[in-house]
Amino acid sequence: MSRIFSGIQPSGELHIGNYLGAVRNWVRLQDQHECIYSIVDYHAITGTYEPEDLRRRTREMAISLLAAGLDPEKCTLFVQSMVPEHTELAWIFNTVTPLGELERQTQFKDKASRQESVMAGLLNYPVLQAADILLYRASLVPVGEDQVQHLELSREIARRWNARFGEDFFPEPQPLLTPTRRIMGLDGQAKMSKSMGNTIGILETDEAIWAKLRPAVTDPARVRRTDPGTPEVCNIYHLHRAFSDPATVEHVATQCRTAGWGCIECKQVLLESMTRELGPIRERAAELRARPELVSEVLYAGAERCRAIARETMREVKERMGLAELSEVTR
Ligand code: TRP
Repeated sequence: MSRIFSGIQPSGELHIGNYLGAVRNWVRLQDQHECIYSIVDYHAITGTYEPEDLRRRTREMAISLLAAGLDPEKCTLFVQSMVPEHTELAWIFNTVTPLGELERQTQFKDKASRQESVMAGLLNYPVLQAADILLYRASLVPVGEDQVQHLELSREIARRWNARFGEDFFPEPQPLLTPTRRIMGLDGQAKMSKSMGNTIGILETDEAIWAKLRPAVTDPARVRRTDPGTPEVCNIYHLHRAFSDPATVEHVATQCRTAGWGCIECKQVLLESMTRELGPIRERAAELRARPELVSEVLYAGAERCRAIARETMREVKERMGLAELSEVTR
């Protein structure tokens, strides 16, 4: 059984883009593989942020993930900064990572162009990501398309370290792309993302979701109610494909093409499908929120399990690299 690792930034409540693009797949995979999932708070400090806010968002993310169906009996969920070996291995990997590869990362170029002073942590972000995965010697990484380049770099880091210090010690991790295509924001302009303010949170009430769906962009060519539409170019249709059953999806497409329904009717049916899936998630989130000690226990147990694996990896890594170990010094 190959081991799976994936990480998500502590952005607070999950939005349906994260949910459909990654987390729904994570839930499915926990029945088929050994899965380790991390809330990557060390990755989240490469921009400006408020410490209290980060703590709250980390907790909210844990609640969202557990509510969405990650089951601590089936997978391991933990917060990255509770396992110090992540940063320890990241330093080591920095010494086998070509600077040019880091400078070529699209995500770095994007983010760097939007910050007035760029810190080294932003550049080294993908090195930490490689350490996250390889610390557990995971070979499969369920992520969205935007992470493919980072994973390519992880493979290169694994290859270089292996070539220098230990044939085949680290596997070359492969992306496991999520079946759902990337979800556009409600403005239909860009990918759904928190920073764009075009998201729907998975824990939002029906009323709040409707307030966002109602004005959401549909097929721009469908101006009047009587104009036939093209479902394939409509973001609402893509959301139907993610949330509605196949018969409804087909019906929606027909109603759109024949102008049988207006966009508002189509959106009402979408809301019903979303409620069917998200309603139980909201209920679980409310239960978890009422029992904060339960969430803490899950994260604590997850970190303990990860530390055991991480310590063992670091012991071997240090040994192969001629680095000192506590046990050796005290011997
Ligand atoms: N960079 C990833 C993102 O922004 C998050 C991440 C950090 C990650 N470490 C990881 C994803 C390890 C997969 C594996 O989505």
